[in-house]
Amino acid sequence: MREKVTVLDFGAQYSQLIARRIRELGVYCEIKPFWENENVKKDPDVKAIILSGGPSSVFEKNSPSIPADFFFSNKPILGICYGMQLITHILKGEVTHSEVKEYGFSTIRLKDSILFSNLKSPLKVWMSHGDVVKKVPSSFSIIAESENKLIAAIEDSKNKIFGVQFHPEVTHTENGDKIFENFIFKIANIKPNWNMKTFIEEKTIEIKEFVKNRNVVTAVSGGVDSTVLSVFLNKILGKNLHCIFVNNGLLRKNEPEEVCLSFERLNIKVNYIDASKYFIKRLRKVTNPEKKRKIIGDAFLKIFFKEAGKIDILAQGTLYPDVIESVSVKGPSMTIKTHHNRVKGILKLIKENKILEPFKELFKDEVRKIGTELGIPEEIIFRQPFPGPGLAVRVLGEITEERLNILREADSILQEEIKKEPFYRNLWQSFCVLLPVKSVGVMGDRRTYENCIVLRIVESKDGMTANWSEIPNNVLRRISSRIVNEVKKINRVVYDITSKPPGTIEWE
Ligand code: XMP
Repeated sequence: MREKVTVLDFGAQYSQLIARRIRELGVYCEIKPFWENENVKKDPDVKAIILSGGPSSVFEKNSPSIPADFFFSNKPILGICYGMQLITHILKGEVTHSEVKEYGFSTIRLKDSILFSNLKSPLKVWMSHGDVVKKVPSSFSIIAESENKLIAAIEDSKNKIFGVQFHPEVTHTENGDKIFENFIFKIANIKPNWNMKTFIEEKTIEIKEFVKNRNVVTAVSGGVDSTVLSVFLNKILGKNLHCIFVNNGLLRKNEPEEVCLSFERLNIKVNYIDASKYFIKRLRKVTNPEKKRKIIGDAFLKIFFKEAGKIDILAQGTLYPDVIESVSVKGPSMTIKTHHNRVKGILKLIKENKILEPFKELFKDEVRKIGTELGIPEEIIFRQPFPGPGLAVRVLGEITEERLNILREADSILQEEIKKEPFYRNLWQSFCVLLPVKSVGVMGDRRTYENCIVLRIVESKDGMTANWSEIPNNVLRRISSRIVNEVKKINRVVYDITSKPPGTIEWE
């Protein structure tokens, strides 16, 4: 089996980021909720453990914790933020509520420690905490202090247990990756063996063994995950793979034709179903965003399962973030998120062992790497994300064919103009939203009373947070004037300057 690192999650905002940083070093890293600590301790493939941060305080009743004997597992441990406070608290050091809350940049002075090999002191780091370690447990020493004289890092070098109060996983921390490198390679002595070439080789054998001669069906949308999945499976299974593309009537201008063409170029046969009339009919008079999502999800499953007939195996492009059990320690109970790849009909297939999800251990950037290995063109691999409910959540209010077409025309102008710009690749998403309000305008010598389009253009690393993009004025001017002049029934264009949080990327 493969050597791996486990992040034990205590409800941290950054757990996935930690896992991605470790994988970037060529070592497989998984995330487990803290209540799985016993299994993690016993798993012989786990060669090092990271205790994540989290919103709790060790003083709270019912704050997430682990038994003291967890620290005698002979596996190197690195506690980050709450993780470090937990180490201290459980091993009988002292944690206190701090009067000085540290949030944001801080500078710390490093002492000699293997964890800080090849790092220069002082180090600029990112802090975000209220509680602090006041006294380290007896076998520990202090290996870094912040400028406020707070304990910033601790170690028990004999038992290979380390703690940092700051966040090495965020890019604001200078050389944070070096700290992970030291922990993984110098302290835990793990060999890097995680890369997409070997992943492809190993998965190919596994998939062949699982599928044998059975038929596999999968849904494609033209998006990155389903395209990479179908190219990958097509290489392995050939004619035993059946791809279904459902046009839900909520796609962008020319998108159905373009998706079919790109699959033709990839030499993959696709069964194209135009169900647009059915979807639009079911959405008539619906304005509530969550209702729209539910109707679209249900309608999709109905059409897809009808077309697929009796299913031997269903393949899905489920990714790792979709299957991680989420630890929510803010409320009184822990919640587990339901994802659209885990709805009733699909859970039944999972029970019957009829689901194939080869990417369920991967992050999106890793799927993109596989796509590149498989020779998929860049314009597909780096396509912007497009939500499953499509334009339904961008036509605010009621959806009609006419309103969809207004949005499609405006959006295609935005796409045409913005794709010419050198900064296009830095954008996470750029799209139009049609508002359910009209405003007064003047065109020529005529008064108009027409619709309003919003331009939503954001930069983001993973969609979890996002900043509105500072697009040059001349580009915005060109887009706005083309939309107002070329798209009938639009007389106003506005630019959305809300970041996420507090806004979301989509408007519904
Ligand atoms: P928000 O609007 O929540 O979006 O900031 C974050 C990212 O998720 C996409 N998104 C969706 N994708 N089904 C999807 O498949 C949905 O219902 C959905 N809602 C939002 C959104 O485009 C952005 O990239």
